[in-house]
Amino acid sequence: MPPNAAGWSEPAPPGPPLWLLAELTYRCPLHCAFCSNPVDYARHAEELDTAQWCDVFTQARALGAVQLGLSGGEPLLRKDLETLVRHARGLGFYTNLITSGVGLTDARLAALREAGLDHIQLSFQDSTRELNDFLSSTRTFELKQRVARLIKAHGYPMVMNCVLHRHNLPHVGTIIELALQLGAEYLELANTQYYGWAWENRLALMPTREQLIEAEAVVRQYRARIGRQCQLLFVVPDYFEERPKKCMNGWGTTFLGVAPDGTALPCHAARMLPDLVLPNVKTGTLRDIWQHSDAFRRFRGTQWMPQPCRSCEHREADLGGCRCQAFLVTGDAAATDPACAQAPGHGRLREIVLEGRLAAAQTAAQAREYPMVFRSDANSLRLGSSRNSGG
Ligand code: SF4
Ligand code: FES
Repeated sequence: MPPNAAGWSEPAPPGPPLWLLAELTYRCPLHCAFCSNPVDYARHAEELDTAQWCDVFTQARALGAVQLGLSGGEPLLRKDLETLVRHARGLGFYTNLITSGVGLTDARLAALREAGLDHIQLSFQDSTRELNDFLSSTRTFELKQRVARLIKAHGYPMVMNCVLHRHNLPHVGTIIELALQLGAEYLELANTQYYGWAWENRLALMPTREQLIEAEAVVRQYRARIGRQCQLLFVVPDYFEERPKKCMNGWGTTFLGVAPDGTALPCHAARMLPDLVLPNVKTGTLRDIWQHSDAFRRFRGTQWMPQPCRSCEHREADLGGCRCQAFLVTGDAAATDPACAQAPGHGRLREIVLEGRLAAAQTAAQAREYPMVFRSDANSLRLGSSRNSGG
């Protein structure tokens, strides 16, 4: 809807949720220190069954959704994954499996192929066994390489993803080499976004500006050298920017997530926002959730904005940035994204970068020993209960 006389857009009847992300399970064999699942995931262990997921897909497709991400946790832990893919494909979804590779055998790949799966994204943690296995707290480095070869053998384009932070940014060149060696067509070099477990580990993961500049230069050199052989995506982290990203392409405009227990999410990290009553697909239709629920309307458009966004010329371009980042850094989900240089919270973001820099300098000799909180059920229950008790 166009801006009103005062210049702010009202929450408009939204277009379709083009992108549906189905977080099929929070279960995962890996323990990544930057996992984007909620820190208290272990308190939400319930999972929708096959029929319930199929119904979610059917409703989403009727709403106009076109792309379906199947993620987790590790979606391969769902024995009905092939059934879900087949149903989604039959509805006309473009289906994308987001996986660590654990459990992706030759037989499973053949079955997924036969069910119509379109696309696979495989995550690596690093180009070295030592760091890959350390960061995921598993021994999966060789397995991931075997799985990458299987993905190619089954005729899929190879999409590799690696989350970057100060421990592996110096390895960007060898990560690209690994992607080339495995025949990847795309490599997503995703600098850590500090939500979920990564927020808990922000001081252990935060890179320095110099590391980012060097890594980006390496990426540019490779781009010039390899051309279209492998497409390299490198996203600079918000903490080093002056303008925020248009997070989720605008709250409640494009993205609809569904958590394993059926909770509907306007963004994958929204579960930790206080005072936001999240609807559930078990008790409401997806259409009603998308169009009318308070959770999906709360930050739609620009009417909710505080100053300085409210009178800023960029408000329609970035829609005030990221609500989850605003909450984590300032304690207020409705605040201007602190990534913005005009935001009252911008100084706090700068302090976190500086604290990370000090942490990196203090531990340069023993970077691997810097205490990280790895994702595990025990840590999740502990952190979840300390939050509930106000800790
Ligand atoms: Fe965007 Fe708000 Fe910053 Fe303006 S003040 S650039 S609208 S976040
Ligand atoms: Fe939730 Fe940006 S991650 S709005």
